[in-house]
Amino acid sequence: MVELGAGSGAITDVIARLPPDGRLLAVEINHDLVGYLSRSRPWLQVLGGDAAELASLLRGAEVDRVDAIVSALPWTLLPAGHRRRILPRSAMCWPPTGS
Ligand SMILES: C[S@@+](CC[C@H](N)C(=O)[O-])C[C@H]1O[C@@H](n2cnc3c(N)ncnc32)[C@H](O)[C@@H]1O
Repeated sequence: MVELGAGSGAITDVIARLPPDGRLLAVEINHDLVGYLSRSRPWLQVLGGDAAELASLLRGAEVDRVDAIVSALPWTLLPAGHRRRILPRSAMCWPPTGS
């Protein structure tokens, strides 16, 4: 599972209750929050970067399959062009059976 815009981790802590073989990755663009998440949640794999570059971030983490994406991105505050980049690029990262 991938969380986009993990921020300070409030949602992360809830969705982290995955089955034992589950894996959660958090994507966050803010450098300070990337540091905070990594320090406060050593069990979490934090990918620092833009959700619009999800495929490349996942490749860098050697992840080739995503079952679900949870977004905490501030959607309506993002510029329309950015939203148009994020949605289709994220959709390409998970199979039709994902959520
Ligand atoms: C509404 S906050 C998330 C709140 C989070 N649930 C928490 O507990 O803090 C949105 C987060 O999305 C991050 N963000 C905004 N644009 C982003 C982008 N393009 N890629 C990744 N993260 C982004 C922001 O830095 C912010 O931390």
